[in-house]
Amino acid sequence: MTDEEAGGFPIAFRTAYAGLVERAPVEPGRSLLVLGAAGNSGAAAVQLGKALGATVIAVAGGRSKTEFCARHGADHVIDHRTEDLTARVTEITGERGVDLIYDPVGRETAATTLKSIARGGRIAVIGLAVGTTVPLDSVDILLRTYPAVGVLAGHDKDPDVEAAVWSRLTRLAAEQTITTLVGTVHSFIDVPDMIAGQGAPGPGKSVVRVAG
Ligand SMILES: NC(=O)c1ccc[n+]([C@@H]2O[C@H](COP(=O)([O-])OP(=O)(O)OC[C@H]3O[C@@H](n4cnc5c(N)ncnc54)[C@H](OP(=O)(O)O)[C@@H]3O)[C@@H](O)[C@H]2O)c1
Repeated sequence: MTDEEAGGFPIAFRTAYAGLVERAPVEPGRSLLVLGAAGNSGAAAVQLGKALGATVIAVAGGRSKTEFCARHGADHVIDHRTEDLTARVTEITGERGVDLIYDPVGRETAATTLKSIARGGRIAVIGLAVGTTVPLDSVDILLRTYPAVGVLAGHDKDPDVEAAVWSRLTRLAAEQTITTLVGTVHSFIDVPDMIAGQGAPGPGKSVVRVAG
């Protein structure tokens, strides 16, 4: 890995592993819908989901991001700015709906995708890029029988378990099955501008180069 790829690797992929392997295991052949799929967490989930054999539906806003997702392995891509999310998910999954939603974004977009969850499907709650988590309706959870699973990337207390996680992730990286999709590399002096732009981030991981 380059330094930039290495810098962007641990959090994104440890989170994706926690979501897709430990907390809401995704099985080969099942559908995985990833929100914010061109973002840091989302792009990692797209790649790990593909490595685990899922059919990946990437949701992103704008053409440069949807093209980015298609280039990096998503089976289906939906532009939430211009397309009807529910109609497109039905078109892709049929009456079944989607088996797992990976949600680092929150609020309305995530709430809309819940309408398309399969019976027995799941939502993995990762984050709240828009500022508010997905609004969950316990009656809907009850009637349509889907669990919502919180995912917080951390380290397992058992060092052997954690070593096995990193061994698997680094092996996938060595095979180039997963990689940090570096977006813009900023110099340290540009950090205030970079932070100011995080309300409308471009595709890929933003990286700051600290060393001179
Ligand atoms: N649970 C964990 O352990 C864990 C680990 C890492 C990160 N997180 C959380 O996950 C969330 C996303 O992190 P990330 O690193 O993936 O972020 P990111 O790379 O900036 O991606 C976030 C995506 O959210 C979408 N978005 C929509 N409205 C936005 C807004 N107002 N501001 C920013 N993004 C917006 C954008 O996608 P579109 O333009 O395509 O809609 C963007 O690509 C954060 O809340 C972070 O704290 C949680």
